[in-house]
Amino acid sequence: MQFTSVIAAAILAYTASALPNSFITSTTTATPAATTTAADAATTTLSLTQQLFIADTAVDRFALIPNDKDFVFPFNDPTKLGIGGKGGDLVTANRKTFPALVGTGSGMAVGFLGPCGFNTPHVHNRATELQIVTQGRLMTEMVPENNVFRDNIAAKGRRVIANEVKTFEMQPFYQGSIHTQFNPDCTNATFIASFNSEDFGAGQVADELFSLSDDVIQASFGQAIDGAEIEKFRKAIPTTIALGVEQCLKQCHIAKR
Ligand SMILES: *[C@@H]1O[C@H](CO)[C@@H](O)[C@H](O)[C@H]1NC(C)=O
Repeated sequence: MQFTSVIAAAILAYTASALPNSFITSTTTATPAATTTAADAATTTLSLTQQLFIADTAVDRFALIPNDKDFVFPFNDPTKLGIGGKGGDLVTANRKTFPALVGTGSGMAVGFLGPCGFNTPHVHNRATELQIVTQGRLMTEMVPENNVFRDNIAAKGRRVIANEVKTFEMQPFYQGSIHTQFNPDCTNATFIASFNSEDFGAGQVADELFSLSDDVIQASFGQAIDGAEIEKFRKAIPTTIALGVEQCLKQCHIAKR
């Protein structure tokens, strides 16, 4: 047991960034004879998530979470809200924001979309998302992967799975698919998204694509974008929850910028 902890601590010493956590305690009781610096540093800076990871068994994890309240994650915590984009908030429970998820293989997010709120096109790197709309409705679009064609005919181009998802309806967004949702109404919409990974991850596609070098971007667009335009595009790319489609903004009398 001690051997395992020391080895794990030594490995973590090289990989762990200092995670903010108030539950930090020392987990090793033995100190190896030589080159102890890395292991010592690790044992004093292990986050709760890291400690839960290297716990010998699931039973041992419960000792690391003595407070029952730490099994509850408040998606409506005011400190987690108002920090998203212009169009709303996305609050995520993964094993870092909610250590009690370690070992479950599960994660969750709640999206609060204001009028015309737009969850910009993104992928989840390590999970399929099951999304249920709990307030209002969402217009969704998903591009699965190469060779999925409209009407199964290559000449018709890529299939885009587009839906209106109403209150208490659910849609899966497959791991690796590019997908997006927007609230087409002038009232709030809320969704709950479950993930089959405690570290589901997300990549906002436009931001990722335009972070590539100018030459690569120009080549990717068949040289159709002028080099001078690229920086303009980069600056215009909005945050996760942005203000949505033009028609909705007009209808709800929301200024574009
Ligand atoms: C819509 O959501 C915002 C932000 O969460 C909230 O302040 C506001 O009260 C909500 N409006 C309604 C009508 O529920």
